[in-house]
Amino acid sequence: MPSQPLHLRLVEADEAISNLVDAMDPISAFEVDHVLKLGLCDVLESIADALPHTADTSLATIAVRILRNGLPEHVALEEGHLFPLLRRRNAGDQSCQKILLQLEHEHGSDEAFAYEIADELEQIAEAKAPKNAEMLGYMLRGFFVSLRRHIRWENATVIPLARRTLTAEADITQLREAVAARTLTGDGLQILETVSAANGNRDPGGPGYPLVPNEK
Ligand SMILES: [Fe+2]
Ligand SMILES: [Fe+2]
Repeated sequence: MPSQPLHLRLVEADEAISNLVDAMDPISAFEVDHVLKLGLCDVLESIADALPHTADTSLATIAVRILRNGLPEHVALEEGHLFPLLRRRNAGDQSCQKILLQLEHEHGSDEAFAYEIADELEQIAEAKAPKNAEMLGYMLRGFFVSLRRHIRWENATVIPLARRTLTAEADITQLREAVAARTLTGDGLQILETVSAANGNRDPGGPGYPLVPNEK
């Protein structure tokens, strides 16, 4: 739970950062995506905490953009590339098959919910009062609690499984190409960066959302 007001902005990754992500192993790119999605959860919680008042409109703008673009692109990468590879390399592992099925089920419900919430948050992004603040608060809390649990579950199960079983060069190459194609065709690689409340400048010492996951 964010204990301080959030002062964030969504920025396009510069060339150096894009090159860094291209060079990293593609499984780490999924972890980077998860860091951004946990940032989205903090943004949504901050908006929910401010209701019935209109929260920082820039936070709502950030949230709408990630809900409409970043989240579906991440799900497409998982369902179109990562999960099929895991299924193929773990064909005899029933628990793996069940976990992936459950995660896909959660994607379906979260994605539908994400578009509904984005519609509501557009009101706040335009500095208008939400149509039904109580209902919006309920929707936001249900969504970010579920998304945090989903991401933590993937970090605890899918990512370690991918590192253990996707060791063939062909698998890594397929993932790398899929991640690179997403960066080129979608909204591009974006990061949430912390800004200083006092002057609006980048705040490298703030809590922030590190682009690269911590070393294990
Ligand atoms: Fe997922
Ligand atoms: Fe994920």
